[in-house]
Amino acid sequence: MKPLIVANWKMNPENEKGAKLLFNAVKKTGAVICPPFVYLRSLAPYKWLGAQDVFWEKEGAYTGEISPAMLKDLGCKYVIVGHSERRKYFKETNEIINKKLKAALKAGLTPILCISDQKEIPHGFSKKGIIAYEPIWAIGTGKACDVEEAEKMRLSIKKVVSKDIRILYGGSVNSKNAAPYIKQAGFDGLLVGGASLDAKEFVDLIKKIC
Ligand code: PGA
Repeated sequence: MKPLIVANWKMNPENEKGAKLLFNAVKKTGAVICPPFVYLRSLAPYKWLGAQDVFWEKEGAYTGEISPAMLKDLGCKYVIVGHSERRKYFKETNEIINKKLKAALKAGLTPILCISDQKEIPHGFSKKGIIAYEPIWAIGTGKACDVEEAEKMRLSIKKVVSKDIRILYGGSVNSKNAAPYIKQAGFDGLLVGGASLDAKEFVDLIKKIC
């Protein structure tokens, strides 16, 4: 199966013009693109559109939140759940993340569950989701995880999830270090933050692994 590359733009770029420029330069790669909520509408329709977070209720008095149905309505297919920055800055617990996972699946979205530790995988994790292993210390630091260490983690995750779940690596991936995570450590794809904001770098990264 072709490696699955997910671009997590986080809170970037600064304006819609920048988002459209970046999108137009990378859309031919067929990567999953997860822009901030406010740019989703202007990037749709795109077959591999994803959001960076979701709330678990369908609708109601939840100021500032976005429901799974709203994401579906915008044409999203994927949603990142439990990113370490959400766990750190917004105190998301495994319990909260589990509710989000269930709601996303129920609405027909494919969740990309981010974990830095195997203990963060909910018991009986569904057959449909994707897991991204991202060691916290490797995110946005320029210090990617040692490929052999990452492979060990992949194998231990593999043992506890259903066999159809794809497992991605994330954490300071760039065009120079990406290939071994796929070709050597056997990951099914990558979750890319910083390097997905530079169109040339991102296209180069994808060329190296496909
Ligand atoms: P990074 O981010 O590639 O900038 O380390 C990865 C992520 O947070 O998903």
